[in-house]
Amino acid sequence: MWIYTDKISEYENKEVIIKGWLYNIRASGKLLFPEIRDGYGIVQGVVSKSDVSERVWDDFLKLTQESSVIVKGIVKKHPKKTDVYELQINDITIVNIAEPYPITLKEHGVEFLMDRRHLWLRSPRQVAIMRVRHEIIQSIRDYMYQNDFVLFDAPIFTPNACEGTSTLFSTDYFDLGKAYLSQSGQLYAEAGAMALGKVYTLGPTFRAEYSMTRRHMTEFWMMEPEMAYYDLNDNMDLIEDFLEYVVQRVIKNRKKELEILKRDTTKLEKVHKPFPRITYTEAVEILRKKDIPLYRKTQNGEEEIRPFPWGEDFGAPHEEALVEDFEKPVIIHRWPSAAKAFYMKRDPENPDLVLGVDVLAPEGFGEIIGGSQREDNINLLIERIKEHNLPMEEFQWYIDLRRYGSVPHSGFGLGIERMVCWICNLEHIREAIPFPRRPNRIRP
Ligand code: 4AD
Ligand code: MG
Repeated sequence: MWIYTDKISEYENKEVIIKGWLYNIRASGKLLFPEIRDGYGIVQGVVSKSDVSERVWDDFLKLTQESSVIVKGIVKKHPKKTDVYELQINDITIVNIAEPYPITLKEHGVEFLMDRRHLWLRSPRQVAIMRVRHEIIQSIRDYMYQNDFVLFDAPIFTPNACEGTSTLFSTDYFDLGKAYLSQSGQLYAEAGAMALGKVYTLGPTFRAEYSMTRRHMTEFWMMEPEMAYYDLNDNMDLIEDFLEYVVQRVIKNRKKELEILKRDTTKLEKVHKPFPRITYTEAVEILRKKDIPLYRKTQNGEEEIRPFPWGEDFGAPHEEALVEDFEKPVIIHRWPSAAKAFYMKRDPENPDLVLGVDVLAPEGFGEIIGGSQREDNINLLIERIKEHNLPMEEFQWYIDLRRYGSVPHSGFGLGIERMVCWICNLEHIREAIPFPRRPNRIRP
């Protein structure tokens, strides 16, 4: 019977078939130890020259790394290691002999591996990351489904900007002029929330930003819930409940993968609500106390501005300093309006602030969530669209949402790859998606 290697423990002393690829092979006298991977794990096989036909033995000697094979054998408990099973192989069918494989089991440089991303994805570490990513997305979908959110797909081609006009990818769109690749599904999700109450989008989003940091890509996936009649506090409550669910489920269901990634999950186990909530202004005070300056690029390099000026956005060193005293994600709310997008609702208690909310992951993984209560006052919204020099005619449909039964509403966006980085403890976002797109990379 054909089985996958992750189920092998259920077949002790039974004959099974494994279809996969040769990961590695060692020889020791009259024994061969091929390791076969099938996407679900790696099993060690044992081939004994005295027990198999000459044809089988010779076939194994022909195998190169990544040759595709179908093997048959009896599942046996490992003589020494507990919970490990091996396959006493009695037959093999060679499907394809691989040409010399460029990625060997020794260390390679990152650019070398990135150029061969289509092959690099086969390695155990990359397989583990992709399975965790899959579990994260499935957990998100299940949470949303169980909590009565409706999946509401937003378009990718859009005529207008959502997150500022400086990061738009554009393309010609027949006789209708320019189309832009969506930076966020939010504006459409707002229409969805007015129709359905609670919705979410989950799809690719694009930013034409020449950002070569460890946390930015030009194409990334975002999950954006939007809820009618939710204020900022409701939004923050949802964020906590949602993050707790996703993190706890992923560490429960993906133990094996997180072990392969050497992820210390004791830190993730602590992600239970409530999370610390601080205002932007309190965050600035913390930065000043810790004496973290603002770093600003100048012609001669970089200058440091002390104390950290109120109104500036945070960079990586600030985010790290803000989370280092906490073991949970840190929620920062009430941001300077000048630093944030046009759609955020002004704080009724202070017009310099908007009811925005960011979530910083612990352990220095940076911003994973950005969200807000939305401006529901039509006049203030029109004012903000003008202030941001956005084309008013393209926003008429969005303003309609305030013309016809405007209600308080809120939402947020979770960056899927940022979440993968945090859960998997990845140094760099390029490993968090099958085929990363960055300013200097569009291949393979
Ligand atoms: O903070 P952002 O820009 O917020 C929005 O787009 C809102 N419209 C979301 C909403 O309220 N519905 O992006 C949200 C998240 C960030 O916190 C980050 O996790 C991720 O998207 N993100 C990126 N991830 C990878 N590469 C980039 N260039 C990213 N830009 C944002
Ligand atoms: Mg943001």
